[in-house]
Amino acid sequence: MQVTVVSGSVYGTADLVADEAAARLAAAGLQVSRVKPATVDALLASQPQAIVLCTSTTGMGELPDSLLPFYHELQDRFPLFTGVPFGVIALGDSSYGDTFCQGGQLLRELMLELQAREALPMLQLDASETVTPELDAEPWIDELAALLKG
Ligand SMILES: Cc1cc2nc3c(=O)[nH]c(=O)nc-3n(C[C@H](O)[C@H](O)[C@H](O)COP(=O)(O)O)c2cc1C
Repeated sequence: MQVTVVSGSVYGTADLVADEAAARLAAAGLQVSRVKPATVDALLASQPQAIVLCTSTTGMGELPDSLLPFYHELQDRFPLFTGVPFGVIALGDSSYGDTFCQGGQLLRELMLELQAREALPMLQLDASETVTPELDAEPWIDELAALLKG
């Protein structure tokens, strides 16, 4: 099972969580491609059988600048990932209210439009609640690894 991990971040936290996720999935015995920076060509070239997307939210519920070209290119090229399992790790801060983890939500909705299959409900990591998101993500990553290994 080939798993591709893509991330976007403003200050580096989401990239760090994605690095941890990639290492943990690999340690669980999965084949992992860590695509950084995020490009559609690199994602497609990795021939993903599963996709993990990790992003923070910036502005008023927006994706980080490092992910915007990727997001718009996915919308334009619209490569179908029919049935491909995916999961989103969303970093945010609940003090932003309605836009909490909106960046992750944008990615999630786009992947569903591309006909990918959400393997696990989106993980939301709240900066108001934790300063160790990479540790808090571990149970979700382990659950995903178990699902993918079937
Ligand atoms: C200017 C700014 C705007 C933000 N806007 C949002 C937001 O709309 N919704 C949200 O959930 N979090 C928001 N956040 C919180 C970040 O997503 C959160 O701190 C995250 O952990 C940062 O991760 P990063 O280091 O990968 O960028 C914002 C943070 C900053 C500094």
